[in-house]
Amino acid sequence: MFLASLLLGLSACASASRGHSRNSTFYNPIFPGFYPDPSCIYVPEHDHTFFCASSSFNAFPGIPIHASKDLQNWKLIGHVLNRKEQLPRLAETNRSTSGIWAPTLRFHDDTFWLVTTLVDDDRPQADSSRWDNIIFKAKDPYDPESWSNAVHFNFTGYDTEPFWEGGKAYITGAHAWQVGPYIQQAEVDLDTGAVGEWRIIWNGTGGMAPEGPHIYRKDGWYYLLAAEGGTGVDHMVTMARSKKLSGPYESYSGNPVLTNANTTSYFQTVGHSDLFHDSNGNWWAVALSTRSGPGYLHYPMGRETVMTAVSWPEGEWPTFTPISGKMSGWPMPPEQKDIRGVGPFVTPPTTSPSLPQEEHLTFPPHHPLPAHLTHWRYPIATSYTASPADHPNTLRLTPSRLNLTALNGNYAGPAGQTFIARRQQHTLFSFSATLRFNPVVEGEEAGVTAFLTQNHHLDLGVVLLPLDGGGEGGGGAGELVPHVRFRGESYTAVPAAVAFPVPEGWRDGGLVLEVRACNASHYAFGVGPEGRRAERRVVMEVSNEAVSWGFTGTLLGIYATTNGGNGSTPAYFSDWRYKPIEQFRD
Ligand SMILES: *[C@@H]1O[C@H](CO)[C@@H](O)[C@H](O)[C@H]1NC(C)=O
Ligand SMILES: *[C@@H]1O[C@H](CO)[C@@H](O)[C@H](O)[C@H]1NC(C)=O
Ligand SMILES: *[C@@H]1O[C@H](CO)[C@@H](O)[C@H](O)[C@H]1NC(C)=O
Ligand SMILES: *[C@@H]1O[C@H](CO)[C@@H](O)[C@H](O)[C@H]1NC(C)=O
Ligand SMILES: *[C@@H]1O[C@H](CO)[C@@H](O)[C@H](O)[C@H]1NC(C)=O
Ligand SMILES: *[C@@H]1O[C@H](CO)[C@@H](O)[C@H](O)[C@H]1NC(C)=O
Ligand SMILES: *[C@@H]1O[C@H](CO)[C@@H](O)[C@H](O)[C@H]1NC(C)=O
Ligand SMILES: *[C@@H]1O[C@H](CO)[C@@H](O)[C@H](O)[C@H]1NC(C)=O
Repeated sequence: MFLASLLLGLSACASASRGHSRNSTFYNPIFPGFYPDPSCIYVPEHDHTFFCASSSFNAFPGIPIHASKDLQNWKLIGHVLNRKEQLPRLAETNRSTSGIWAPTLRFHDDTFWLVTTLVDDDRPQADSSRWDNIIFKAKDPYDPESWSNAVHFNFTGYDTEPFWEGGKAYITGAHAWQVGPYIQQAEVDLDTGAVGEWRIIWNGTGGMAPEGPHIYRKDGWYYLLAAEGGTGVDHMVTMARSKKLSGPYESYSGNPVLTNANTTSYFQTVGHSDLFHDSNGNWWAVALSTRSGPGYLHYPMGRETVMTAVSWPEGEWPTFTPISGKMSGWPMPPEQKDIRGVGPFVTPPTTSPSLPQEEHLTFPPHHPLPAHLTHWRYPIATSYTASPADHPNTLRLTPSRLNLTALNGNYAGPAGQTFIARRQQHTLFSFSATLRFNPVVEGEEAGVTAFLTQNHHLDLGVVLLPLDGGGEGGGGAGELVPHVRFRGESYTAVPAAVAFPVPEGWRDGGLVLEVRACNASHYAFGVGPEGRRAERRVVMEVSNEAVSWGFTGTLLGIYATTNGGNGSTPAYFSDWRYKPIEQFRD
């Protein structure tokens, strides 16, 4: 009796001190905003840390890596693609659906391996030059320099992942889907990129475009997980298994193992999953999802990273908890935020539904720009100067000739576009920056933008234009004066451009330019003089359908361009503010 109660007492005490014996509650998405195609691993050898990579298309730095020790607090620790010399061809992609597609992150032999594809989506599916398959590796994923240059290998497809067995390495990938058959595998030398013969190992269950293959060895089986249905509302996760790595793979009768297709969930397009387990042997999965509801019209944040718990008994098929905003899952490791790397943390922790603090960037001297800021392809480094001598606490942008649309809305080439942004991560938010800009050449422009791709962006800027005859500006017709201009570019209908001369009383100081999500479907673009909020006016309300499309997610940022002209007037931005207002989860 006494012994029994002592034991009971001990076990109660032990579970309390571990603090993680009860099932967890957590919130999706775990990485809000443009973080599609997640691939995650648990690495006991690196201080019991979880690492996740996601795809980045034409964004640079590319292939973000998040790390966590508790599945609650996730930190952006850096980017695999962080130097132009690693992969010069990213400067040359044509089309917004091009760039870095789904990566797979794995740890083997004391090394982090990242296998992915640089796609030039303007070329034919069957053209092997469309699919530049590449391997990066690093000993220290926290150190940007540790990530190698790309090693290229030949595969007419994408969604490639490495697997090791019996001293050999293999790559499994999705063959170009218009010219299937689909999931293929070959032996590969990961250091040279030399590949053996590609063999078909699985054709999927009949859904469109079987892709995103991942293989797991468990209980004497090789489990093959894939995505099917395409990355829209029919997206799903399916599985097959085999006793041999090379197949034949037998489909699971319970497929799909994870999907929100044909549901009314706010979280749609769930698919492209990866599995990993924690130190207790409990399984988890990540996947991509869009918060669009089945209407699938308004999802400016694009494909985000969601997480779910998976129950996977020995010898059996896994069971995934369906994706929703509020999740219940396995106990999580105790809170532990001591993680190296540049940051920032994704806030709040996944276990809290609250909102993060406002982001306020003041661009102080001698500080690198925060690591979560992003460009479109490679930036010209000298076009971005924090705290130049004559304008402390501003970010000086030197204009690019190309505007945000650039050439054909697809190509830009090495000359680049002067643009720096952060991801939209909340349903409702306000993003603003204060602009000081005295354009002297017609067409010179600087402003703020909600940018999805070169052919989907909504801009509010100041641009030097001729007066169309008297009016608010006070001058004569044809005189060049700075105008406020809203302009949208999209495959869907956008309102016609609106421009008016900057009111006389606003011309001396800075102008605050703002993008605000007033509800889940519309942005309001506003402008007013710095420090005089009452004078701020809404220039345009516009549906976010214009930036709900394709593979990427909306970036909120600032730009400067001459619109093809010969100007070189710099623009000075200060007081960058991103204020989260509400996060919708159902
Ligand atoms: C980019 O693609 C467009 C549309 O297919 C094509 O017209 C253009 O020539 C391409 N540009 C380059 C540099 O490849
Ligand atoms: C790459 O593979 C394709 C398809 O098998 C083949 O036609 C092509 O010659 C290969 N290229 C190289 C450089 O090996
Ligand atoms: C996949 O489909 C191809 C083409 O239809 C067929 O030749 C092949 O046998 C199939 N492979 C498997 C593993 O089912
Ligand atoms: C969704 O419903 C359609 C139409 O009934 C069906 O063809 C499709 O297989 C369903 N998708 C999933 C993943 O259940
Ligand atoms: C805890 O979570 C796991 C994974 O979702 C689930 O299988 C299990 O039933 C849950 N346990 C309880 C007591 O709710
Ligand atoms: C969202 O805001 C826009 C612009 O103010 C408005 O036209 C639309 O009706 C609003 N939608 C909802 C659901 O309130
Ligand atoms: C953007 O640049 C393109 C190509 O230089 C040009 O055709 C277009 O007019 C520019 N847009 C504006 C609003 O000036
Ligand atoms: C830009 O400068 C070049 C060389 O001086 C000149 O030929 C061209 O007309 C100028 N373009 C514009 C738009 O002013």
